[in-house]
Amino acid sequence: MKGLILCAGKGSRLYPFTYNRPKTLIPVANTPLLQLAIVKLMELDIEEIGIVIHPSQEISIREQFGEGEALGISISYIYQREALGIAHAVKQAQDFISDEPFLLLLGDNLISASLSALKNDIELGVVQASLLLAEVEVAQDYGIAEIQDERIVGIEEKPVYPKSNMAVLGAYAFTKDIFVAIDEILPSKRGEYEITDAIQRLTDQQKVVSYHITDQLNIDVGTMDRWLKANQQLLSADVSKKRIHDSVRMENCTIVEPVSIEKDCVLKDCRIGPYVSIGEGSNLENCHIENSIILNGVHSKDLPFLLKNVIIGEHSVITGVQTDEGADMP
Ligand code: G1P
Repeated sequence: MKGLILCAGKGSRLYPFTYNRPKTLIPVANTPLLQLAIVKLMELDIEEIGIVIHPSQEISIREQFGEGEALGISISYIYQREALGIAHAVKQAQDFISDEPFLLLLGDNLISASLSALKNDIELGVVQASLLLAEVEVAQDYGIAEIQDERIVGIEEKPVYPKSNMAVLGAYAFTKDIFVAIDEILPSKRGEYEITDAIQRLTDQQKVVSYHITDQLNIDVGTMDRWLKANQQLLSADVSKKRIHDSVRMENCTIVEPVSIEKDCVLKDCRIGPYVSIGEGSNLENCHIENSIILNGVHSKDLPFLLKNVIIGEHSVITGVQTDEGADMP
């Protein structure tokens, strides 16, 4: 089985952080989202992975992952030059996938659930697609599956009047039949070739689409709020994991786990955590930080307020200004 990860999106809702880097390279618990997706596939013994990128992202993504040599896998890069949707991105990878079944991941989704059931369904050879579903609060934001007698009878992209609250998450397993279905769909109202329309097409053609429901948290890291939530989720997921690099120097600091502190950070008189990630080479003095993401090389000193629920961009310098009453940042 091959793996396919989609990364070509612009990530405009995360500007300015995604001006100079692909959205899938933003770090969650100091690990790029794309790396988490690659590891997810490797856990299923998938070793041939295609990554769909916009040509402008090639240098930064290749710089991190090369052709997969360091991970012992094979990575191929496939271009999607226009933002025409998930199904369009998958179509660009048809030569790479060839006749094999494949597992598709949206590179900006943090998927906690295991995907082995999706892989097994396809490998047994009786279904043409297998989906991961979860109940969501705002069904209008997702592809929504309509289920009757335990079968998916309809699937609709971002419906105004959702027929259920069962959302299709960003992990799918397919056989090559999906390419035929993609060829038969038209762009949606938002001008994209929707993977949900292609899956609907499969059901129209009496192909079998199976599904698995998960109650684990799965986050589409598309906004600042969800980025912070994903960071919190990943830090809490494996609290036993040591996330403070050996090279970190600390003096008179209180650490409230879980936190992740990358290499070469220097911290003095700080209270850090819970749910804080600090990127490589940051230097913090006299700061109190909770539930935040501090990217690489940040310098911050004498903050008179609690930094909470914030994301600080790379190489930012923040110096405190003493006020009469130190106010908490919202
Ligand atoms: C995309 C898919 C949608 C799916 C969602 C999962 O939405 O089109 O079907 O439910 O990912 O995150 P988009 O990220 O384009 O809003």
